[in-house]
Amino acid sequence: MSRSAELFEAARNARENAYAPYSRFLVGAAILTPEGEIYSGCNVENAAYPQGACAEAGAIAAMARAGRRAIQEILVIGDGEGLCTPCGGCRQRIREFAAPTTPIHIAGLQGVRASFTLEELLPHSFGPEHLAK
Ligand code: THU
Repeated sequence: MSRSAELFEAARNARENAYAPYSRFLVGAAILTPEGEIYSGCNVENAAYPQGACAEAGAIAAMARAGRRAIQEILVIGDGEGLCTPCGGCRQRIREFAAPTTPIHIAGLQGVRASFTLEELLPHSFGPEHLAK
């Protein structure tokens, strides 16, 4: 299986464990690191709605937990007519560990529907280098 197929499968599998009883909108995300590993996450909602977490946040937490600090590619999967692009907060979360050219793939249940770079989704962004002395 190609790396891109593995990334899709990891996100698809993660989505199957999404906990989204309130929105019923299941999302999965998977990150490929430069080391060649894949980390995934799903959205986890909460009865106190604002406490819900996005799939991308879960995948980033799993990556960080493993000691990895760079996103080479990320894929997000969600069903529905519109593209399941990352929310504004998650674009910033991805920004922390990605380059302007890092691909963000948006998939539906059948496969990737569109790909953007981080710079396209979050132009003129603020990042760690702005804090460097
Ligand atoms: N959601 C994600 O997990 N990632 C996205 O990229 C878009 C939205 C989740 C948040 C919430 O649990 C549900 O989808 C509906 O907004």
